Amino acid sequence: MSAKKVLLGVTGSIAAYKSCDIINSLRKSGYGVKVMMSPDARHFITPLTLQALSSNEVVTDMFKLPEKWDIYHTSLAGWADLILIAPATADMISKLACGSANCIVSAAVLSSKAKVLIAPAMNNGMYRHKATQENIAKLKKFGYRFVGPVKGHLACGHKGIGHIAGTDDIIKAVKQSLK
Ligand SMILES: Cc1cc2nc3c(=O)[nH]c(=O)nc-3n(C[C@H](O)[C@H](O)[C@H](O)COP(=O)(O)O)c2cc1C
Repeated sequence: MSAKKVLLGVTGSIAAYKSCDIINSLRKSGYGVKVMMSPDARHFITPLTLQALSSNEVVTDMFKLPEKWDIYHTSLAGWADLILIAPATADMISKLACGSANCIVSAAVLSSKAKVLIAPAMNNGMYRHKATQENIAKLKKFGYRFVGPVKGHLACGHKGIGHIAGTDDIIKAVKQSLK
């Protein structure tokens, strides 16, 4: 049986560095991993790092001219058994809830039939805001699954809900989603 394929979407959160551990753990668990990043995620971690860890091209710009003709967002969408957005910003959650397709991450999710698992990471105020809570409720109705966030020390200095789930819990949720 061929390995299950996980398309990891990294977005512009301070927790983007955790995507390194997530990629390593996914690969150790036997998954094929490809990575896409929102343009703002590049402020937090470099595509080069994620490319080296995943051993695959990292797509950050769906308009980049490919060396061999390809439409990045649709080919990634078709490749994946599961799309994992980790970390997922409040902004990306809002884009997914309204069907936006203006960056590689949102366009791939919108055009894919793959399962979707979201690991939010944000300030506690952003997480608790009605807008975010309504967006999450809407995505759950689409059948998207969530792992975390959890309580902890947040980058803004606050303590509360909004910390990305631990890598082990994210990998468990991937396995559960792909059963
Ligand atoms: C230092 C810093 C840290 C940030 N951390 C987060 C975060 O953890 N979660 C979040 O939702 N937004 C965070 N933001 C805001 C996002 O980066 C911003 O909304 C961005 O446009 C998200 O883009 P994306 O959703 O396309 O990746 C942070 C911004 C800065 C400047």
